[in-house]
Amino acid sequence: MLSKKMNKVNIKKIAVLTTGGDCPGLNAAVRAVVRSGIYYKLEVLGVVRGYEGLIDNNFIEMKSHSVSNILQRGGTVLKTARSDRFMKPEGRQKAFENISAAGVDALVVLGGDGSFRGMDVFTSEHKVRSVGIPKTIDNDIYGTDFAIGYDTAVNTVVQAIDKIRDTADSHDRLFFVEVMGRDAGMIALFGGIGSGAEAILIPETNTRIERIVEILERGWSRKKTSMIVIVAEGDDAGGAYEIARSVKQRFKQFDTRVSILGHVQRGGSPSCADRVLASRLGVSAVEALLEGRNNVMLGLIDNKLSYTSYKDVASRKKEFPSELMRIAEILSL
Ligand code: F6P
Repeated sequence: MLSKKMNKVNIKKIAVLTTGGDCPGLNAAVRAVVRSGIYYKLEVLGVVRGYEGLIDNNFIEMKSHSVSNILQRGGTVLKTARSDRFMKPEGRQKAFENISAAGVDALVVLGGDGSFRGMDVFTSEHKVRSVGIPKTIDNDIYGTDFAIGYDTAVNTVVQAIDKIRDTADSHDRLFFVEVMGRDAGMIALFGGIGSGAEAILIPETNTRIERIVEILERGWSRKKTSMIVIVAEGDDAGGAYEIARSVKQRFKQFDTRVSILGHVQRGGSPSCADRVLASRLGVSAVEALLEGRNNVMLGLIDNKLSYTSYKDVASRKKEFPSELMRIAEILSL
């Protein structure tokens, strides 16, 4: 435990921001940063709308009561945005001027890989101290086993598919369920195993329509009364509607429906796992700054705190647990 007096780089004021797509657990993390900042006698500001707020000088004072009753709420009280202006040198220059004028010694950035790519450039151009906290429902950020928001999102997916399974079974139907994951199949993979899907289609592997048809025909011959195919939105064979159409041409036995889960996956009250992860990373982020760590993203690897440079977060690819695809295939018999 860091002693209350230990503040190696003399930080007095920090600012916290949420940037990129939102996810459940952001509020829990903001609360943890604010409360631990106050615990360590720091002034804490919130930045409204992420990097956009840095550019627009939109800072608000955060007190302990500012984060009361938000632990369990989805979304982000600080609002978020994807900022095109921060991608340009003039935008980053303005952000730096505002941070300096506000007397902010360090930033805590809750973001995804795109946000940390932005921080990598920003901190190479300007003298800014910061630490990052990973958040994305896609769980595809290098440098952490889990990102905030992922656990809640897969649980949302599993609950939704359980409901779809009820109606699919009543009507002997085949469902194609599209889940989020523009570049990553983690939601589809875990959601698929957790809901007993017959097939899981993800961007990381090549999708062959013939193989899906084989799996469905096998299910049909074994008298399955419902079947579910999960499609990650970024799958190389297209979206759920397109894939359903191609499969239907060759496999006519089942009445087919498509369901796109969409942004429900990004909302809702965070799971306990996400609340604890967000709380742990939020406090650790403040302590990391006080210990003198700089321009790194915090993460959890094998349940231990880890620190990864923004450069590595931005340039390296997280390993995909392909072993689990084999498990899913065995269990879809
Ligand atoms: O990056 C997270 C993510 O949820 C992706 O899986 C998805 O494609 C995207 O965000 C959707 O973003 P938007 O809210 O801009 O539609």
